[in-house]
Amino acid sequence: MTYAAETENVAKVVDIVRASAPGFTPKFGLVLGSGLGDLAHEVKDATRIPYADLPGLPIPSASGHAGELVLGRLAGVDAAVFAGRGHYYEHGNPREMAVAVRALSHLGAGVLVLTNAAGSLRPEVGPGKPMLITDHIAYSGLNPMIGTPGDARFVNLVDAYDPGLRDLARAAAAETGIALAEGVYMWFSGPAFETPAEIRMARIVGADAVGMSTVPEVVMARAEGLKVAAISMITNLGAGMTGRGLSHEETKAEAAKGSANFKTLLRAFVARIGAAGGSRLPD
Ligand code: HPA
Repeated sequence: MTYAAETENVAKVVDIVRASAPGFTPKFGLVLGSGLGDLAHEVKDATRIPYADLPGLPIPSASGHAGELVLGRLAGVDAAVFAGRGHYYEHGNPREMAVAVRALSHLGAGVLVLTNAAGSLRPEVGPGKPMLITDHIAYSGLNPMIGTPGDARFVNLVDAYDPGLRDLARAAAAETGIALAEGVYMWFSGPAFETPAEIRMARIVGADAVGMSTVPEVVMARAEGLKVAAISMITNLGAGMTGRGLSHEETKAEAAKGSANFKTLLRAFVARIGAAGGSRLPD
């Protein structure tokens, strides 16, 4: 898709959302990753729009991913919940979520919260644990801003994971008594899992977790001026760390097991985002 065609889709999506939920302005967007989609069922006074009705939104092909935009109140805060994401590995397009991210910004949201399933590189941060992402490494070598016009493509990624939002996430973890690890997320393209040698490399270069999503969304959201937070649900230790192989089945099963805690943490985090101010959080 050209950038111009993408921009037309953004306008169409914004129009469809405004027509479906008149007067609704989300304070924040939330992308739900593998196994976490059922948080979308908690949205109150929900308007649900299948991605199939939103031009340019991905039709997720990975099992464990729905494809629905849910508008309404989550933990008392006006939310645009993206239940399901498109991944680079599905079609080789790092802008798979561009229309979603740009439309969210046009709808007036100030914050994007991203979730994902990830493999941990730290033995003490095992399956079921949430990890607050503090920074990332885009090992895939790809960048979603390639092919976009103007100087906005030179996106600053210092403090890409907003320090104020990170404080809110830590406060939510303390309030709920849920241990929240923190670390650097390294983006591999997937869909094959990493090799044990790649996992050893990832540890050496400073990663704490690996995964196949989120990073392109972070870059595009920062290009839009959205504040970003991202939390991984650790579903496994990295390849070669346990003597067992990896599977998507395990990812989904572990995400389901850990999801109660993760959802508790997210609800508390969202409530704090709501309490922190207007649709554009103060700098
Ligand atoms: N590697 C990449 N992506 C993942 C993993 C992993 O080990 N676990 C969940 N998503």
